[in-house]
Amino acid sequence: MKSVHIFVPATIANLSCGFDVLGACLDTIGDEMKISLTDTSEIRITKIEGAKLPYDVDKNVAGVAVMALLKAYKKKIGVDIEIYKNIKAGSGIGSSAASSAGAVWGVNYLLGNPFSILELVAFAMEGEKLASGNAHADNVAPALFGGFTLVRSYAPLDIISLPVPKELIATVIHPQIEVKTADARAVIKQNVSLQKAIQQWGNIGGLVSGLFMNDYDLISRSLEDVIIEPLRSILIPSFNEVKNMANKSGALGCGISGSGPSIFTLNKGMKTAKKVADAMENEYQKTGLDFDIHISKINTTGIKIIKN
Ligand code: HSE
Repeated sequence: MKSVHIFVPATIANLSCGFDVLGACLDTIGDEMKISLTDTSEIRITKIEGAKLPYDVDKNVAGVAVMALLKAYKKKIGVDIEIYKNIKAGSGIGSSAASSAGAVWGVNYLLGNPFSILELVAFAMEGEKLASGNAHADNVAPALFGGFTLVRSYAPLDIISLPVPKELIATVIHPQIEVKTADARAVIKQNVSLQKAIQQWGNIGGLVSGLFMNDYDLISRSLEDVIIEPLRSILIPSFNEVKNMANKSGALGCGISGSGPSIFTLNKGMKTAKKVADAMENEYQKTGLDFDIHISKINTTGIKIIKN
């Protein structure tokens, strides 16, 4: 039985201005998965630790993503999937994306990489569709490509890997409440004013340029969301207070991570990132809610093999 044990990173989707198109890959938090090829010609979820998730492959994002891959592979093979969750569901740091991306990456690896990373993104998006009703790629793309990614187009799927300025460090505070992506998508308006759209696409261009130019001031000016954040931030206790403290402490910018409730910052340098994380922590203690805090480099390689 061929098998691979992998680390599958958490991700920050949207990055403020880039709803459904921008994402970043984290380094210090993620799930583990063990994927094996078997001669059963069945897809089975054989172990789940760290979360209560369905073992039924039709109802589990990892199962659905692997089904999409095997449909394209056209040969009958058996796959066993073990999932060790560290990323909580409804956390805003790509929990369903990690399971979907890890499963297809592992199977593809064991088959000798018949599919490109872009194709794996498309398979993993089927898992996202099951999880949230919408096949968005802004978590699965950075998990699979690593670094920062831009979904330039969904149809056809076109994903650009963006450069990672060396000193960029992310912090993420994860309040221990669950916000379902489907619910966070339900609060968004379907129409956007031209004035707001102009601000938003200016910021997306600015952020992408800032990453290419290593221009931390430009990155900072561009980390602004005038469309989604005002509607979603009410779902997150003390969002505005944390954002104010993070910005005062020197963060380049602060926003909702994916669909929340996690709040992320980007920072120049580890020293600032630690100061910002402390400030976020002090502020969040006032809420009386439990929370986790993470400090992470941007992971430029994505999924990593722990054991072959
Ligand atoms: N772009 C998606 C959203 C990410 O914000 O709904 C969900 O993690």
